[in-house]
Amino acid sequence: MSAAPESLDILVLGGGGREHALCWRLRQSPRCGRLVCAPGNAGIADVAECAALAITDPAAVTAFVAAHGIGLVVIGPEAPLVAGVADALRRAGVPVVGPSAAAAELEASKGFTKDLCAEHQIPTARFRRFASAADAHHYVAVHPLPVVVKADGLAGGKGVTVAETNEVGLAALAEIHGPVVVEQCLEGPEASLFILTDGDHVCVLPTAQDHKRLQDGDTGPNTGGMGAVSPSPLLTPALLSQAMDRIVLPTLKAMRDRGTPFQGFLYAGLMLTADGPMLIEYNVRLGDPEAQVLMMRLESDAVDLLWAAATGTLASVRPRFGAEAAITIVMAAKGYPWLPLAGTVIDGIAAAEALGVTVFHAGTRRDAAGQLLAAGGRVLNVTALGHDISEARALAYAAIRKIKWDGGQYRRDIGRPD
Ligand code: AMP
Ligand code: GLY
Repeated sequence: MSAAPESLDILVLGGGGREHALCWRLRQSPRCGRLVCAPGNAGIADVAECAALAITDPAAVTAFVAAHGIGLVVIGPEAPLVAGVADALRRAGVPVVGPSAAAAELEASKGFTKDLCAEHQIPTARFRRFASAADAHHYVAVHPLPVVVKADGLAGGKGVTVAETNEVGLAALAEIHGPVVVEQCLEGPEASLFILTDGDHVCVLPTAQDHKRLQDGDTGPNTGGMGAVSPSPLLTPALLSQAMDRIVLPTLKAMRDRGTPFQGFLYAGLMLTADGPMLIEYNVRLGDPEAQVLMMRLESDAVDLLWAAATGTLASVRPRFGAEAAITIVMAAKGYPWLPLAGTVIDGIAAAEALGVTVFHAGTRRDAAGQLLAAGGRVLNVTALGHDISEARALAYAAIRKIKWDGGQYRRDIGRPD
């Protein structure tokens, strides 16, 4: 398999802003045939057919693909990957963008990744693994401060505590069921690096930077991300190439050598320390909302790119990203991230888009009358391009003012220099 077929029927798994951005870009390709997204959302419904499907059930996804003659599957979130959906599709001969369950261990088990780093001298915080919270108790009680306590498994971004006191560390430990990783605390700004690989060839994507805290000035609780910019102002070309050479490429080689090559998008969370970039964590997928700014900047054909990644022919395509900067500002429901207010009415998206932005949907739905309603934590991503980040930011915030939504909240300082 090499060049993408003239027309390809595609299934995208997921229903957030990341998947809306992917579907939106795929739809623009002349090679995109039928585009189905499961479960999708109200915004995705404008560019794809939304389907109800148990997306973490490998047999259900494989049966759906066979029944609908789907030729390419793109998996957005980590849960289907960890559940082995990509394995089942590959066994059925279906091209898929996303790693096997074995390769998804890079996100599913922090202990797995830490051991791999230790074995291959990949720079990361010093650490100890424990089978249970009880086993880690003494170590956390006496660890020099600050101490970082992590649940080993997937925790939806909530499994990490950077504790300034041993008591706080022990309290975090008490919340963890299952294996634990305790780490040295690293210092420095954080940056993210994204690649796409077919298992062999690696394509480095433009840099992007998200804002994880809920409130302005990077305060308040951690969230999935309240906004993002691309390029990252922090990850210079020199640091990027250091991180590729010392962290990402050795990881991919190690995964190949283990017989579990990584295929798909890999997202490295880095700490830019005085000793150079160090790995904080891997995600085995695109970031959300980082995907929104990356898709906004992608100029070449998305079907060609994803087909190549799924069929081992990535060396034959060279994706083109525009020189303009991109920003996305997340509008979340009031109450997010604890108890997001559902069902509030949203208006004014067309007026916002008339200014030249693209509004990707995350948690939205339409009622019987066609009215747009909030139906999740993160709800909208107002996404803009500009000659630089400050121009893109001005446009995005002007567009946000057109959106009429009493039930929403957003940060006022996305992409603003510190
Ligand atoms: P993770 O889920 O592993 O990305 O961790 C969530 C956040 O916790 C990161 O984005 C960092 O801000 C922080 N963090 C994780 N590990 C460390 C560490 N070893 N030192 C300092 N901060 C960390
Ligand atoms: N924006 C962070 C993430 O996707 O995990």
